[in-house]
Amino acid sequence: MPRFDDQTVLVTGGTGGQGSSHVRAFHAEGANVVIGGIDTGRGAALVDELGTRACFTRLDVTDESSWSAAVLAAESTFGTLDVLVNNAGIQNPPATIDSTDPATWSRILDVNLTGAFLGIKAAAPALRRAGGGAVVNIGSTMALGGTAHYAPYVASKWALRGLTRTAALELGRDHVRVNTIHPGVIATPFIHEPAAGATAPIADFYSPEPFAVPRLGEPADVTQLLMFLTSSDASFITGAEYVIDGGLHLGPALRSEAA
Ligand SMILES: NC(=O)c1ccc[n+]([C@@H]2O[C@H](COP(=O)([O-])OP(=O)(O)OC[C@H]3O[C@@H](n4cnc5c(N)ncnc54)[C@H](O)[C@@H]3O)[C@@H](O)[C@H]2O)c1
Repeated sequence: MPRFDDQTVLVTGGTGGQGSSHVRAFHAEGANVVIGGIDTGRGAALVDELGTRACFTRLDVTDESSWSAAVLAAESTFGTLDVLVNNAGIQNPPATIDSTDPATWSRILDVNLTGAFLGIKAAAPALRRAGGGAVVNIGSTMALGGTAHYAPYVASKWALRGLTRTAALELGRDHVRVNTIHPGVIATPFIHEPAAGATAPIADFYSPEPFAVPRLGEPADVTQLLMFLTSSDASFITGAEYVIDGGLHLGPALRSEAA
């Protein structure tokens, strides 16, 4: 039986590289999907592709009123909201801290951190009304260490870890579980297109060749973990953090010739 029959899942950044993979997979496993995003054209195309049990809501995660509208869209269209995936995220153009514009700092924190805060705030009453559910915040392996030239992004994703743990404590008695997934380098526009204000994409500077699993991650890799964490199979998992990075954060592996 599909794992998400009769459940409604809201995915932010739902038209993006990972978000659209999550949306398609939840839908294939029986869920009603609410695609939250700022790209109305892609949202409409994804709804057309899915056919039934799908709607798009224009959701800028930094805007509290569009969060209210998204939760309302879920409940009025499908009856409940059961799963929230705080997936929307942006990266800063690479720069040292001393050359980072405070407006850039604020913008990255607004989307990556405040966006998830506003999402949990808006969704919590609906998740309670549904009798419980799950929230997953999408972090990054950059939340596990420092990364030169990415201070706003790194700080935003570190802070998301604290938000996750606190939300897990606050919502646990309401049967709402809250977890974080930390993807490594995943093949999406995020790495193949330059960040706003940057000239080259991260993919130009990154090779997975030295790492334990020497390939880029695919959105589906993250999707599979996300579906497990939001399913009833994970009913005892909350406040946890899952790294899915092919070993990236372990550090470089030696080439086999070195053994
Ligand atoms: N791709 C990677 O290598 C990688 C690695 C670690 C973490 N992540 C995280 O994964 C998540 C998904 O990224 P992706 O790889 O799919 O990249 P992506 O660029 O394909 O998707 C990001 C999505 O977020 C949306 N978005 C941006 N600002 C928004 C806003 N204000 N409100 C609502 N939506 C907004 C974009 O429109 C886009 O659909 C992000 O949180 C990102 O930080 C990505």
